[in-house]
Amino acid sequence: MKRTLGVCYYPEHWPESQWAEDAARMAALGLTWVRIGEFAWSRIEPTPGTFQWDWLDRAIETLGNAGLKVVLGTPTATPPRWMLDKHPDMLAVDEQGRTRGFGSRRHYCFSHRGYRAESARITTALAERYGKNPHIAAWQTDNEYACHNTVLSYSQSALHAFRDWLAQRYQSPDALNRAWGNVFWSMEYADFNDIALPNLTVTEANPAHTMAFRRFASDEVVSFNRIQTDIIRKYSDAPIAHNYMGRITDFDHFATGADLDIASWDAYPLGFLSDRLEVTPEHKRRFVRQGDPDFQAFHHDLYRAVGRGRWWIMEQQPGPVNWAPWNADPLPGMARLWAWEAFAHGAEAVCYFRWRQAPFAQEQMHAGLLRPDSAPAQAFHEAAQVAQELAAMPDVDCARADVALVFDYASAWAWETQPQGRDFDYFRLAFAFYRGLRRLGLNVDILPPDADDLSAYKLVLAPGVATLSEPLLAALAKHKGASLIGPRSNSKTPEFSTPVPLPPNLPNLRATVARVESLPPDVPVPLTQGGNFLHWREKVETEATVIEATADGWPALVATGGLHYLCGWPDEAALDRILTTLCDAKGIPTDPLPEGLRRRDSATHRFWFNYNAVPVERGDITIPAAGVHWEKL
Ligand code: GLA
Ligand code: GLA
Repeated sequence: MKRTLGVCYYPEHWPESQWAEDAARMAALGLTWVRIGEFAWSRIEPTPGTFQWDWLDRAIETLGNAGLKVVLGTPTATPPRWMLDKHPDMLAVDEQGRTRGFGSRRHYCFSHRGYRAESARITTALAERYGKNPHIAAWQTDNEYACHNTVLSYSQSALHAFRDWLAQRYQSPDALNRAWGNVFWSMEYADFNDIALPNLTVTEANPAHTMAFRRFASDEVVSFNRIQTDIIRKYSDAPIAHNYMGRITDFDHFATGADLDIASWDAYPLGFLSDRLEVTPEHKRRFVRQGDPDFQAFHHDLYRAVGRGRWWIMEQQPGPVNWAPWNADPLPGMARLWAWEAFAHGAEAVCYFRWRQAPFAQEQMHAGLLRPDSAPAQAFHEAAQVAQELAAMPDVDCARADVALVFDYASAWAWETQPQGRDFDYFRLAFAFYRGLRRLGLNVDILPPDADDLSAYKLVLAPGVATLSEPLLAALAKHKGASLIGPRSNSKTPEFSTPVPLPPNLPNLRATVARVESLPPDVPVPLTQGGNFLHWREKVETEATVIEATADGWPALVATGGLHYLCGWPDEAALDRILTTLCDAKGIPTDPLPEGLRRRDSATHRFWFNYNAVPVERGDITIPAAGVHWEKL
């Protein structure tokens, strides 16, 4: 498949006299896509029920006539101020019970029935008007669900919707009491209307209550999104995307993904390194102008799974952003490297955010492809280079991986609800395993938690999955390759209690987690073969083969046939050894890579990405600083 480039554009930010020139420059740059509209509600419907379409008609016409394909966003992330007069109680409420205010964006509660109707109304109006417009080649629903901490709302609307959700799930208060164990601390309910949201309790709420609220909140995002996709499909055949984010686990993206045609995400490598990763200060210094070498790739692979193969970058960082604690300038070459890395992982399109830096409002310190005075910024030239390279490049097709990692959003909620040790974060754990695979030079596929066919994979990892699904357990029982399950996998029932028989309760593996221990980060547990467990370990009683042990004599890795259970959180040295041994046993070729150098194979090419600020030698090739190299396989 031919891969394409695009850009995010806000015609409503610029005088109309500038649009044609902007469109011509985009086309000349080699861009295919332009995303517009996602924040333009106050200009589309300035007063309730009065629509002003003319400007948007002309903007779409101008862009389309320049040869660009338009991605049209629904503007529901930014309801205009008048909406609050119609629906004074539509705002989300934070965990402390404070109503969140107007004056930025995402000021709505997913559960507010009136706002859902407004969102359906504006989506219908847009889809009716533009559904058959030949320039509209894709849609985006809303913008970055969850951004600014907006999935959990403790409003009256959420409370009522939660009670309905509980009544449907449990049918009777008795069933709910039994499922949650409400006999503990006399928490039993006689009526669904007695149940509150799990905030402002004296000490922690029942974790089953919190977990139910997290599942409910995720379902609310899914049903909010589905209202829009159902409407758009009535009027348009163009594919529908949503732009997801980095390290956001507040809702189940696999569930929203089922209603969308394309998964896309917004990649801001320097912002993420600065504010979204547990890494050493040395690592942050080393990659401050390049970004973390694995963070983007992880999300590329995750969203390829969420999009069932179809995924984009909807927003690519072009220069310094405005929102991280520190906002470094990307090294020359990174705006090109990031785009090529996405293509190597199967992205259909990469769109830079944004065309021109805005001289006003919140994001005036956020770079674009153009400066506010319309002169090209650094990334403009790099985008031009990528466009030329794409034109010369034969199709980039995605290769299947030998190795898969299961990723489960509900496990993120589970370990936030009951970490048991301050460092037990699900994303952090899953990402540590992903990084381990990447250090060995491997392509990785990510699988949803209900994956039911593992036959394509020689090695499957499922660390920290709170409840292993029935389909996945059945697939593991049949799997001919190796698998590495644990730590902490299968240790909760779906209702968030401790299962008996005790975990991990895996097919054919006679092992029982008798107790667990969490530890401060400066108390490692050495393993006899090198490396340590950190943060977490388990005492496992077993009749299976003990492959590794801790220095104080607890089993560390146990197995029956290919099925392995890992009894703690491994540091890099331990993980590298364990993964290498498993790969060797299954004939998966590994290639331990130097720090900051990563590789990815497409169906036809091997791509090298050098995240270092200095060149790296690999055999007879030199990969330049912040550079990309590819060769035919
Ligand atoms: C932060 C910012 C947002 C957005 C994301 C990155 O939360 O506040 O504007 O850019 O990160 O996707
Ligand atoms: C997010 C949002 C954009 C913009 C950028 C800034 O990704 O979707 O509207 O705020 O962040 O980095």
